[in-house]
Amino acid sequence: MPYPTDKMRTTTHGRQNTFKLRIAGATLALTVFMLHWWYRSNAIGFKTPGCSPKQVPEVGTVTWGGECESPGQECGSIIVPKDYFDPSAGTASIAIARVRATRPKKGTIFLNPGGPGGSGTRGASIVLADFLGNEWDILGFDPRGIKRTIPQVKCFASLQDYDLFNANTVMQQSFTIPSVANLSDPAVEATLVQQSRQFVALMQAQAQICAESMGDELRYMGSATVVRDMAFMAEVFDGEDSKINLFTGSYGSILGVYLVNMLPNRAGFVVIDGIVDPVAWSSEPAYKWPSNWLSSTEKTYKFFLETCAEAGPARCPLAKHANESYSRLEARLEAFFDALALEPMAVPFARRPAYLTSGAARGVLLMYLEQPTQWADAARAFAAAIAGEGTLLFDRLLASDAYVRSTHHDLVRSAVTCADAPPPPSPRDIPTAEDLAGELMHALREVSPHFGANLGLGEPDGGCEYWPARSPERFAGPWNATLEWPMLIVSNTMDPITPIQSGRLVHSLMGKSTRFVIQDGPGHCSSSLPTPCTLKLIQAYFAGTLPENGTVCPTAFDYFPEAPADLRAAFAQEEESVWAGAQAVQALFRRRG
Ligand SMILES: *[C@@H]1O[C@H](CO)[C@@H](O)[C@H](O)[C@H]1NC(C)=O
Ligand SMILES: *[C@@H]1O[C@H](CO)[C@@H](O)[C@H](O)[C@H]1NC(C)=O
Ligand SMILES: *[C@@H]1O[C@H](CO)[C@@H](O)[C@H](O)[C@H]1NC(C)=O
Ligand SMILES: *[C@@H]1O[C@H](CO)[C@@H](O)[C@H](O)[C@H]1NC(C)=O
Repeated sequence: MPYPTDKMRTTTHGRQNTFKLRIAGATLALTVFMLHWWYRSNAIGFKTPGCSPKQVPEVGTVTWGGECESPGQECGSIIVPKDYFDPSAGTASIAIARVRATRPKKGTIFLNPGGPGGSGTRGASIVLADFLGNEWDILGFDPRGIKRTIPQVKCFASLQDYDLFNANTVMQQSFTIPSVANLSDPAVEATLVQQSRQFVALMQAQAQICAESMGDELRYMGSATVVRDMAFMAEVFDGEDSKINLFTGSYGSILGVYLVNMLPNRAGFVVIDGIVDPVAWSSEPAYKWPSNWLSSTEKTYKFFLETCAEAGPARCPLAKHANESYSRLEARLEAFFDALALEPMAVPFARRPAYLTSGAARGVLLMYLEQPTQWADAARAFAAAIAGEGTLLFDRLLASDAYVRSTHHDLVRSAVTCADAPPPPSPRDIPTAEDLAGELMHALREVSPHFGANLGLGEPDGGCEYWPARSPERFAGPWNATLEWPMLIVSNTMDPITPIQSGRLVHSLMGKSTRFVIQDGPGHCSSSLPTPCTLKLIQAYFAGTLPENGTVCPTAFDYFPEAPADLRAAFAQEEESVWAGAQAVQALFRRRG
């Protein structure tokens, strides 16, 4: 498939072609400057009525009065250049939701809940504004391609079509291997090759469908473009050269790290929580990511099993005896996965009748590991499935699927990751099913024997080799910008998909321009198990006080309680506003089911 690379600009400082790239960099800077001037003089600053050839809204136009999702918001849209390097591409409309500062305003904090594909409009709330001191306008937005932002990524004719396309394929059931007990058994890799062939064909099909229905619109969905949108919006709302402030997590850490490195002079207060390795994100194809993303997963899994064993069978039904060793629980789960690999389980009374495979069950367990407040539910769902009733488990898969579909409608995640991905290799270097399977084997052998092949269920990435569009701008470092005000990095010690290793990497690349805070506990992003300690550091950061680098925040939580789980207990000693803030931050980052 041909790639429209002619217009592509890469703001990379690779080892090869440094000279050419410098010139490209200079041209780029000049182009950005000129466009900046162009937009400023034509659109924002000096609007001349009647001058525009068509009655299209001009860039910089802000419209309020739209429908809102939370009380206290004002909602609407802002018109931005669709392509910051080519005014002839027209405009895009970014959906926004704002809660205004009630005290003298310091600026605007942009919100992004991750994904890619997550909508940021929902998260702007009065409670969050209160928590952050009411000195900021809090502005949630739907990034390119997402939800109410136009153009929207919509490749299939309907969500139902997309559903039918995925149902019961490796996309929805993940990769199943006979057993992890003997990874040197050639049958393991052979199975993965088989399923990878299906995966490749599905990726090719969806890319072609997207090319057909979206065409060139797909080019404008990348993270670098979203960074320019934030810069543009900050100027419209807060004035020329105003700082860009951002509170984000998970994939949003990519937006944060891109922002501070693309536009270091514009970076203001930036908090990123649950870090994705930006070097791997921008320089490696997605099929190589599992080994990187899953580096804390086994540790998290062991902690889950240990706390379950300690809770005993009355509170964690996966345990059989009080204080069993965690390895006994693990062995029972592995026996269940192996049995399922031989014979999938019928789930006729799930929300959609289907069957449950071993790979899907592993993938669902990984998703549960991301949410420690749901571990008691996980134990119930798995205990029921081991006893022959897989409905709860499969419904959990469908719930996350529904989440993925509603917010990622339908392939916006691919649209973002493939815009950010390294340029496609020449056709003879496109990874084969054998390459994909080999990489999954690597993840299973070296990184996560239990989940190495199952990241894709919750994080459906890949296939960018077939994606029909390239972004006008792709950022790939350098990652060592110097900032006036350090960026705050938050990592959990047991985050099963955005491991602390990635937080350490960003900190080591940016040194004193960052402060690194560690939440010592399980879950994806600190908000999956909110602690007063981490929240108050974030609150103080936005109020102008930097935490001590390396601060460790402990977690305390009853994972398998007798009564329903009570997060509030951890906040008993705190002011009400901290607990309210915890819920607002959780609402911002809430994922799935
Ligand atoms: C693992 O599988 C290989 C190949 O089938 C076999 O030679 C080996 O004995 C097996 N190892 C164990 C521990 O079962
Ligand atoms: C498991 O052992 C711990 C420490 O020895 C003890 O406090 C706990 O009560 C035991 N749990 C059960 C369910 O017996
Ligand atoms: C930042 O990284 C780039 C590329 O790795 C390198 O050339 C440059 O010297 C670094 N700058 C600083 C200030 O360390
Ligand atoms: C910041 O803290 C982290 C975590 O303890 C540590 O690894 C790192 O070296 C510290 N950085 C600096 C610049 O002191």
